[in-house]
Amino acid sequence: MIIDSHCHLCKKDYENIDQIIKNMQDNIMIASGADHKSNKEVIELCKKYPNIYGVLGIHPSEITKDIDKHLQFIEEHINDKHIVGIGEIGLDYHYECNKELQKNIFIKQIRLAKKYHKPIVIHTRDAISDTYDILEKEKAYEVNVTIHCFSESLEMAKQFIKKGAKIGIGGVVTFKNAKKLKEVVENIDLKHILLETDSPYLTPEPYRGTKNEPKNVYLVAKKISEIKNIDIQEVLDITTANATTQFDL
Ligand code: NI
Repeated sequence: MIIDSHCHLCKKDYENIDQIIKNMQDNIMIASGADHKSNKEVIELCKKYPNIYGVLGIHPSEITKDIDKHLQFIEEHINDKHIVGIGEIGLDYHYECNKELQKNIFIKQIRLAKKYHKPIVIHTRDAISDTYDILEKEKAYEVNVTIHCFSESLEMAKQFIKKGAKIGIGGVVTFKNAKKLKEVVENIDLKHILLETDSPYLTPEPYRGTKNEPKNVYLVAKKISEIKNIDIQEVLDITTANATTQFDL
């Protein structure tokens, strides 16, 4: 058993989503929303497939003027079958943006998760300090927190782990130049790690450059087993248990 704890399964990205899902056999995927449209698609997938769970959220780069309506939609569906959290939410300062607006929407979604005791899945890019501070100030760790597609330093990983957060590791760990992330994986215990693909992005080696899909999560597990010099089965067993607990699957 393997769990892809974070992937995007949008119609706009895949010609044949059913086939992509079939390729995972009986393994589990947690499909993540990022905007209103993908949130609706996540709900549909969760209804259709017993091995798909979903998280609903508005990504910091997807905030539109309809945001209040879209947040209300998330609240209306937060207790749907197989909806297991709020994500992906957070801060992304990579491109020019309205930081105050991003913070405001991030906070609203953290509060929503706390209201319903749901885990949160965090996206943070070029914004680690504000992300860290908001999680702290909002007492976000009262719910289960995942830092998805972790790309920060080992020191930062340790700080998040101390708070009880899980660290999402994706295809980047297979890249030749991913020295920092390999150091993170080498030095943190497997019990803090979740496997993910972030499909259709960040395809692991040797398929880098093609479209990613959840079945490639196996390549992430394999790379982690090599870095930690342990059996891949141990990686599968422990990360599956981690994700199951984290999202109460
Ligand atoms: Ni994502």
